[in-house]
Amino acid sequence: MRSAFSTTPWYGGDYNPEQWPEEIWREDVRLMTRAGVNLATVGVFSWAMLELQENQYDFEWLDRVLDGLHERGVKVDLATATASPPPWFSLAYPESLPVTADGIQLSPGSRQTYCPSSPAYRSAAGRLVRMLAERYGNHPALALWHINNEYGCHIARCYCDTSAAAFRRWLQHKYGDIDGLNQAWGTAFWSQRYGSFAEILPPRTSPAHPNPTQLLDFDRFSSDELLACFLAEKAILREVTPEVPVTTNFMGLFRGADYWQWAQHLDVISDDLYPDPADPDAPITAAMARDLMRSLGQGRPWILMEQATGAVITRPENAIKAPGQMRALSYQALARGADGILFFQWRQSAAGAEKFHSAMLPHSGTDTRVWREVEQLGHELNQLGKVMGQQVPAQAAIVLDWDSWWAIEQRGQPVQSAYLALIAPWHAALTRAGVVVDFVHGDEDLTGYPLVVVPNLLVATDAQLEALDAAARSGSTVLVTAQSAILDQSLHARLNGYLGKLQQTLGIWIEEFAPLAGAWQRPGNVPVRPETTIRPTVEVSGDVLPDGRATGLEWTEAIRIHDAEVKARFAHGPLEGMPALTRRATGNGAAWYLATRFEPDALAHLVDTLLAEAGITGEPVIGATGDTGWVETVRRGELTFVINHSTAPVTLTAQGKDMLSGRTAADMVLEPQGVAIIEQETAAPAAQEAPLLNAGRTGEPT
Ligand code: GLA
Repeated sequence: MRSAFSTTPWYGGDYNPEQWPEEIWREDVRLMTRAGVNLATVGVFSWAMLELQENQYDFEWLDRVLDGLHERGVKVDLATATASPPPWFSLAYPESLPVTADGIQLSPGSRQTYCPSSPAYRSAAGRLVRMLAERYGNHPALALWHINNEYGCHIARCYCDTSAAAFRRWLQHKYGDIDGLNQAWGTAFWSQRYGSFAEILPPRTSPAHPNPTQLLDFDRFSSDELLACFLAEKAILREVTPEVPVTTNFMGLFRGADYWQWAQHLDVISDDLYPDPADPDAPITAAMARDLMRSLGQGRPWILMEQATGAVITRPENAIKAPGQMRALSYQALARGADGILFFQWRQSAAGAEKFHSAMLPHSGTDTRVWREVEQLGHELNQLGKVMGQQVPAQAAIVLDWDSWWAIEQRGQPVQSAYLALIAPWHAALTRAGVVVDFVHGDEDLTGYPLVVVPNLLVATDAQLEALDAAARSGSTVLVTAQSAILDQSLHARLNGYLGKLQQTLGIWIEEFAPLAGAWQRPGNVPVRPETTIRPTVEVSGDVLPDGRATGLEWTEAIRIHDAEVKARFAHGPLEGMPALTRRATGNGAAWYLATRFEPDALAHLVDTLLAEAGITGEPVIGATGDTGWVETVRRGELTFVINHSTAPVTLTAQGKDMLSGRTAADMVLEPQGVAIIEQETAAPAAQEAPLLNAGRTGEPT
């Protein structure tokens, strides 16, 4: 297998020449060279231009595109073009159209109008992939196969009859016989017992709460069906072009597909991410997706396959990126393990649904700020071969689990919650503290992480509980939060105090859940009388908390101790005096339990306590929680990236040289959106001993 990378980071974007007359193509490649572009993603939405009618192909235009790119040394990430079947296909195979849970069949006219289980779709896609592989497998420009595009971004679940039949086959394979399914799904409840697999349907819209295990199995099945589409294409590509690596572009923390299941099948992980420039916390949120991508690839370099130079078209108001912000966010991806920075798209479309989506080459051409920033970044990246392949060491891990994600967001929970809103605060607090976080599934060997955080792992396998126990015993500090290990993989309650094996690890058991009144108000839930809605909270007290007090939100649990130290207690309400935060020393480590959800300040304080216990000192940062924003510091190999996402200048104090400006790092002022990549010139002291920054405003070393 060839490497998925070159000697300098990939730089480029989606290239859709079929939208333009051929004379423009010459200008495209000329300008690509000018901007330092070395990779173009070609053909993502070209099916209708490549297969004009069934089995009538026209590849000649694509030959000319690839040849033209090759002449100028631009490599190609060639799409398999299967992301959007052409209109003739939908007309000929109407049964391939996706159907919603309400039974509405969706029409062609936009994109991705196919049912992932459709045999007609899979066979037509397979034919096209084989033609492309045979025609371009030896093309000198080909660097990488880009299978499909953003699997599931519009149709992550299809409820049609074909999907129903595929779901039944999937269930039969999983459970073997119908008794096994009845037992797992708990169908003795509400008269749901099935006599045979033939009686089973997808969880289509139904009068009341659907069966939870049916719903979860359908989520798992739907992720697997999309993955099966990917694997079918990959098998053809492997057969015809065994040397060419494959990818498909993920979508950050995407609910629709269990990326832990997918990641092992990609030769290189790639990701599309569109942080909102209007959101001051967007860099923190974006860091979470970057960390996930690195973690999915087990630390291997990944590719930022799509981002925007400026505005997108998916929000009600689509802000542009501030001057320098595109560059700063690009370097964030590089700092967190990316070896490629690409955009959607190269040339801004003149027509179609995304004509207002920004591009590397904007509608107004090259005499524009965006183009100048694109050129600058390209030239810089072309000099950064040294970054390639460098590892990003992480000291903390957060358990992320799709089963728990899907199950937590089902109806019928003690509190309706959005899973990412429960994960993100932990990642944000660690990241603001300058600690790089790996995401883990939780059943792997976790013993190398000084700190493991387990937020809301509602559905826990025995293997996960074993791994967490082993980590704590071997010396890690493990923090488990409320709403964890309540259910097994079939969504049956873990009886007699919940938590399974963690009862021993944590030295506690759970008597009952006590959600705080009013917890129903969530984004998307319209309060009946907004002016009267209060966020439900509870006071918690204990010496370990800032000023001895903290605020818990939404969820509380009555926990009972059999072998743990109580660090904080609920100060009032039905659980007054009961433990809210516990710690148990176990083996060489410790296992903490938080029986509520903390508001951000208390959470950050708890994170500091855990970091101190785990002996973790983050990269030095400034302005972590200040009102000017966040300065990001990440070590990648021997290099230290400093990215000023804040609104104030900062002064570097580190020894070494900034690779981007060539200047000595000490005393260098980094303006807002400024970036430095510091290379040590001599044997360097450890980061903990050598502060990198001074706050520009105060001059205080951090
Ligand atoms: C996604 C898709 C692209 C484009 C962009 C911008 O990432 O993969 O084709 O639609 O969004 O909206």
